[in-house]
Amino acid sequence: MNTLLLKVNPADPELDIIRTAADIIRRGGTVAFPTETVYGLGADALNPEAVKRIYEAKGRPLDNPIIVHVSSREMLEQVAADIPALAWRLISKFWPGPLTLVLRRSPKLPEVTVAGLDTVAVRMPRHRVALMLIEESGRPIAAPSANLSGSPSPTRAEHVVKDLYGRVDAILDGGETEIGLESTVLSLVDDVPTMLRPGGITLEQLRSEIGEVRLHPAVLAEEEMERIIARSPGMKYRHYAPKAELIIVHGDSARVKKKTRELIEEYSEKGLRVGVLYLGRTGYGLRDEISLGDADDLRTVARNLFASIRELDAKGVDVIITEGVEERGLGLAIMNRLKKASGGRIVRV
Ligand code: TXA
Ligand code: MG
Repeated sequence: MNTLLLKVNPADPELDIIRTAADIIRRGGTVAFPTETVYGLGADALNPEAVKRIYEAKGRPLDNPIIVHVSSREMLEQVAADIPALAWRLISKFWPGPLTLVLRRSPKLPEVTVAGLDTVAVRMPRHRVALMLIEESGRPIAAPSANLSGSPSPTRAEHVVKDLYGRVDAILDGGETEIGLESTVLSLVDDVPTMLRPGGITLEQLRSEIGEVRLHPAVLAEEEMERIIARSPGMKYRHYAPKAELIIVHGDSARVKKKTRELIEEYSEKGLRVGVLYLGRTGYGLRDEISLGDADDLRTVARNLFASIRELDAKGVDVIITEGVEERGLGLAIMNRLKKASGGRIVRV
């Protein structure tokens, strides 16, 4: 398949480029595009053949439903039904932005988009390219992250090219994404609003807006995701997994540094090539080490996380040792992605 590469200005997208991409969506094709969280791989959410092409391109299991992206409240009402007052409150506060709401679905949506569920996950992205693409297509756009199933979500067009070139119709290159982690997924179809995936909007932000919010146990789980009875089908897959084995070292920062040093030595002695993702300015003097940012600047850590894992993977390291962050604010989402990538290998110190 020929993949069209289209550079676009993220601050002020060129209309002719967006229209080229929107035409592809309207004709049932697939287009990767930047959002404020990560790159998505989009297709017309109302066209089952088009949505099937997303699953094929990613190698995504058909029982994992896809987030539907909208650009207006009218479009939301085309895809969701019985929208509760709580949803409207969250929408006026956090949309456009990195909050995905699970709602009752409209019968108009094809089964394949929602993997046969009676609910739909919807969000309105804040990125201008994403919003314009949806508007110009005039269709709600179904879009999972634009990576091959199982690899880290793409935060740069080059990541998308690496995973999906030749497998999709077009890639809109709008530079690096701002948040770097996927959206928060909040279910509003249970008695109590339940966070299924932490992300760009924090638990603290949601609680201060609507009061009680439950954290789905799988979010914190350190066991293999497959062992957890998941409400969100996506929870059971080992996402974001690098080729290298990933190990998290978590706890008091001085002890983390000491333990990390010990582990580097232990693995190196075994003849393994070790890479490290560390916090702050001072590393370990390794060739393959990257600073994620300061421990008290989690926005930067979140923005760098997936790209840094990809970078170490590309260098061919056998083991990636990562310093963990506190599970507060954005730290909850960062640790959730790290735990998934590590398959639960955490050393607590
Ligand atoms: O930031 C994001 O959310 C990015 C950008 C492109 O918008 N998209 C993204 O999509 O991360 P994806 O497919 O990689 O993750 C969607 C998650 C999956 O865990 C999926 O199982 C869950 O949302 N999900 C989708 N529909 C659902 C539903 N009806 N009920 C529960 N969970 C749902
Ligand atoms: Mg994904």
